[in-house]
Amino acid sequence: MKASGYVFLNGRLVAAGRAGVSVYDRGLLYGDGLFETMRAYRGSVFAIEEHFHRLRTSADILGLPVAARDWPATIGLLLARNRLARRDASVRLTITRGPAAPGVLLPPDAVRSTTIIMAQPLDASIARRQRAGIKAALLPFAPRGFLREHKSLDYLPAVVGRVLASYQGADEGLFVRPDQVVTEGTTSSLFIVRDGVLCTPPARDILPGITRAKVLELAHAHRLPFAERELTTADLRLAQEAFATSSIAEIVPIVALDNAPVGSGRPGPLTRRLQDLYRDAVAQYLRARRRPRSATRR
Ligand SMILES: Cc1ncc(COP(=O)(O)O)c(C=O)c1O
Repeated sequence: MKASGYVFLNGRLVAAGRAGVSVYDRGLLYGDGLFETMRAYRGSVFAIEEHFHRLRTSADILGLPVAARDWPATIGLLLARNRLARRDASVRLTITRGPAAPGVLLPPDAVRSTTIIMAQPLDASIARRQRAGIKAALLPFAPRGFLREHKSLDYLPAVVGRVLASYQGADEGLFVRPDQVVTEGTTSSLFIVRDGVLCTPPARDILPGITRAKVLELAHAHRLPFAERELTTADLRLAQEAFATSSIAEIVPIVALDNAPVGSGRPGPLTRRLQDLYRDAVAQYLRARRRPRSATRR
C-alpha cells in the first residue's frame, strides 16, 4: 500500500510514508489499545463529544492515558493538511499502551502511549449503499463479554466475520450467539422494524454505538415507537425493515439477509425517514458548531 498525505503521530503531523511505530508497541503485540472512527463533514467531526466520552470512559477503565489537547483543532489541522477540510472524511484515532518490554503482559508503570490519527476521503460507495441498501449475512459466532463494550484494537472477530460474509456476497456480517440471538454487525449496530416498532439490541455486551444512540434519540423525539430488546434470527427473518448504523456509513438499509429479501427487498419507509432525520440532525449539529467553537478539552 502506498501511504499518502499526513498522519498525526504522537503530537506531530508526519508524512504518512515516513510514520512508524515501535515493533514493541503493545497495540501491535496484544491489541492493547482503543480506537474511535468518526465522520467529518466538511472539516468538522459529528458528535465528537460522544466519541471522546466513549474513548475516555474505556481508557479510564483500562488505565490507558489519553493526552489532554484540543482534539477538534488537531483533527481540523490534519483534515486541512490532507485537503479534506471541504469534503466528508473518515477520521480514525488510535491510542495504544505504547512500546514496552516484550513478553510481559502486565502493563508497565510508566506508559508512553502511542497516538495516531488518520484521515481518509469517504468511500464513494457509501452514498450508493445508503440509497440502494446492502446485503447482510448471519455469522456462525458472536464474540462475547464486557470487553465488547469497548472499542478495543481486537478486531479479529470482525475481520473473520467480514470474510465469511463476503463468501456469501454480503457486505456486512451479523454476529449470532449460539442461542440464536443476533447482537450487532462486524462494524455496525443493528436495527429492525417489526410490526411497526423499531427494535435494537440493548447496549450490553455490544459496542454502544454513537449512531445507535442518535437514532434512538431521534425515534424518541419524533414519537416513533421503539424498543431495546434482544433480537433473534427469527425476528430478523420476519422483519419488515432492517438497517445497520455506524458513524461512517450513518444509516444503511439491509435489503437482503442470507440472500433472501428483508421485507419488500427495498429500503423501507421508516428507514428512509430516519435517514432524513439523521441528516437533519447532522446539519443542525454542524450549524451550531460553526457558530462559537465548543472545546472538548479536558
Ligand atoms: C462492532 C461495532 N458495532 C457498532 C459500531 C457502530 O458504532 P458507531 O455508531 O459509534 O460508529 C461499530 C463501528 O465501528 C462497530 O465496530
